[in-house]
Amino acid sequence: MALQPRKVFDIVVPQPVIEGAGVRLKRSIATRELDYLDPFLLFDHFGSKNPADYIAGFPMHPHRGIETVTYMLAGNVNHQDSIGNAGSIGAGDVQWMTAGRGIMHEEMPQANERELAGFQLWVNLPAKLKMTKPRYQDVPSARIPEFERDGVKVRVIAGAVDGVAGAVTEIFADPEYLDVAIPARGAFEQPIARGHTAFAYVFDGEAVFENDQRAPSPRLVIFGDGDVVRVRAENQVARFLLISGKPLGEPIARYGPFVMNTRAEIEQALRDLRDGTFVQAD
Ligand code: CO
Repeated sequence: MALQPRKVFDIVVPQPVIEGAGVRLKRSIATRELDYLDPFLLFDHFGSKNPADYIAGFPMHPHRGIETVTYMLAGNVNHQDSIGNAGSIGAGDVQWMTAGRGIMHEEMPQANERELAGFQLWVNLPAKLKMTKPRYQDVPSARIPEFERDGVKVRVIAGAVDGVAGAVTEIFADPEYLDVAIPARGAFEQPIARGHTAFAYVFDGEAVFENDQRAPSPRLVIFGDGDVVRVRAENQVARFLLISGKPLGEPIARYGPFVMNTRAEIEQALRDLRDGTFVQAD
């Protein structure tokens, strides 16, 4: 049977937002236009050469019920959390954090940086794992598999391409997270499991998808169902993230950094935070 190409379902223009202690971001998921793209709860792109846009960072804050994935393109961020991790992540590094029942962390850009750029994605956890033990996977750039096919450079953060397995594994939503760079007049295609939610985030140049649908950077491109995503570049490069995952199909209740299934569970999270029982030693 012929592979069915995934057509473009929608193209989303990122919205400017201010988060943390005053960081300017471009947000494409968790907006009025696109609240949730099951299992993806939020997608932010930060990128600036003006420290005033990011230096205030993200001081200590809680998360529950989700996973957060930070992928850096430029600059360095110092981080520490309530399960004892501390360090810094820089260009090309990934931090995959499973908040589970509760984690507190801070992410502060280093003051001497001339540029900060990267992405944060929130992946939902199914009801049965929302209160799982927090976990943290730190993946330095050197451990992220990278390969080139017909001039196209691919970094495999999670999932697999041509038998190359990604650096981050054992994530419930079975996500695939690729960083793809297509040179001018190049092309790329990638099979994606049928039924999985899939999107591309174009952040440099312009990408051209099925039926000549064009996405100049920055745009988030949502695909309909099918077997394979096909992308090409015309006179300029196309650099984008290609992200997919298994939808959960469960109700969500969200309140800032907490994403649960019911309102009562959100209220419990707020009570735990107030009572000092949010972070549990075990
Ligand atoms: Co956070």
